[in-house]
Amino acid sequence: MSKYENLSNLFDLYWENTNLNDKNILNFVNNFINEEKDIERIKYHTNDVKLDYPKDKLYEIMKMRKSGRNYNNYQINKKQLSSLFSGFAEIDKHRLLSSAGGKYPIEVYALCFNVKTLNNKVVYYNYKDNSLSVIGNCPDWNNIKSITGAGDVVVGKPSIMFIFVGFPNRVVSKYGERGGRFLLIESGHYIQNLLLRITYEKLEAVELGGLYDNDIKNILGLEHSNAIITLGVICGK
Ligand SMILES: Cc1cc2nc3c(=O)[nH]c(=O)nc-3n(C[C@H](O)[C@H](O)[C@H](O)COP(=O)(O)O)c2cc1C
Repeated sequence: MSKYENLSNLFDLYWENTNLNDKNILNFVNNFINEEKDIERIKYHTNDVKLDYPKDKLYEIMKMRKSGRNYNNYQINKKQLSSLFSGFAEIDKHRLLSSAGGKYPIEVYALCFNVKTLNNKVVYYNYKDNSLSVIGNCPDWNNIKSITGAGDVVVGKPSIMFIFVGFPNRVVSKYGERGGRFLLIESGHYIQNLLLRITYEKLEAVELGGLYDNDIKNILGLEHSNAIITLGVICGK
């Protein structure tokens, strides 16, 4: 028995308490308008050191990243699809992502609404050989929009929805509750890599933090596992 066995119940409890449902979702979706102006700024009264912005290509891409919520049922081609998944790969036996203790608790799935040769398929990304396993059929976007928390702010049909699934056992068994924290942080690494690839490909995307965990697990065939749904990203044009 792991010394963290009891502690991990607390992570389960925390997770349960962050679940969304038909009652609390409305309040949730209305909270996603950019409210930067309300953020309290930190300002030290010091002689600050002025920095320069980089003038390189990487920074050009970072500058262009933004959320987009209007989609026109664009068809993603194989080159774009490969580009989007490439940020999760393992190259020369080394992942493009860091992970606490190399436990890699995040797995990447996607619902292909309009992707050449993969229309209406659910796929799983194999990072070892950079390939996609087709694991089932996925419903039309319009039939599952209500379980994504996309609400009225997302207009039209995206091409693909990436889903970042966490497997807490891999980290909680080693790091206890703190492992749960690491898992969520690592999900953010994957998402940022993806958003930069999406920006490079001149596609639109927005993160969806309001996925209904159990409904999404059912679509991915993970209903009998203790996998957790961290976040979704819809993408298209
Ligand atoms: C964890 C997280 C969850 C988010 N969830 C949603 C969401 O459910 N719906 C939505 O429209 N935008 C969502 N967003 C996008 C933010 O609203 C957006 O990033 C923010 O307003 C800043 O705008 P920008 O991305 O264009 O810079 C989410 C962003 C993050 C980081």
